[in-house]
Amino acid sequence: MAQLITIINGPNLNLLGQRQPEIYGYDTLDDVAKSCADIAESLGLRSELMQSNHEGVLIDMIHTARQTSAGIIINPAALTHTSVALLDALHTFDGPVLEVHISNVHKRESFRHSSYVSLRADGVIAGFGVQGYSLAMQRMGTLLG
Ligand code: DQA
Repeated sequence: MAQLITIINGPNLNLLGQRQPEIYGYDTLDDVAKSCADIAESLGLRSELMQSNHEGVLIDMIHTARQTSAGIIINPAALTHTSVALLDALHTFDGPVLEVHISNVHKRESFRHSSYVSLRADGVIAGFGVQGYSLAMQRMGTLLG
């Protein structure tokens, strides 16, 4: 069976496409799931996209990925900038972890400039819009190939 890439999304990303489209664009999380699944298939991988507004649920997703997944792509959303618990959970995962931000967080408020998750991430993509997820999936193909 093809290796699984788990794509984890944090708070408010369920509203992607409706939420501040001038910053995050009009594509939805379903659109992201579909394009990532297509790329994963072309790379001989599988992908599954998840989202939660709750920190503990996101931690449980990471724990599940320890058993099921070869790699994690994560957009922790606002928890990027606050959550030591997410960082600790990611430290329990052995495979590649790629961090994605739709917007260029470095061009925004200073509180968005720091990321706990980056202390674990093997790569970070920011400011490429939802295309960042596709680029991260391509990178997974390289890292796991
Ligand atoms: C985000 C950037 C975060 O600062 C913000 O809280 C988000 C989305 C992004 O994808 O650009 O919710 O992670």
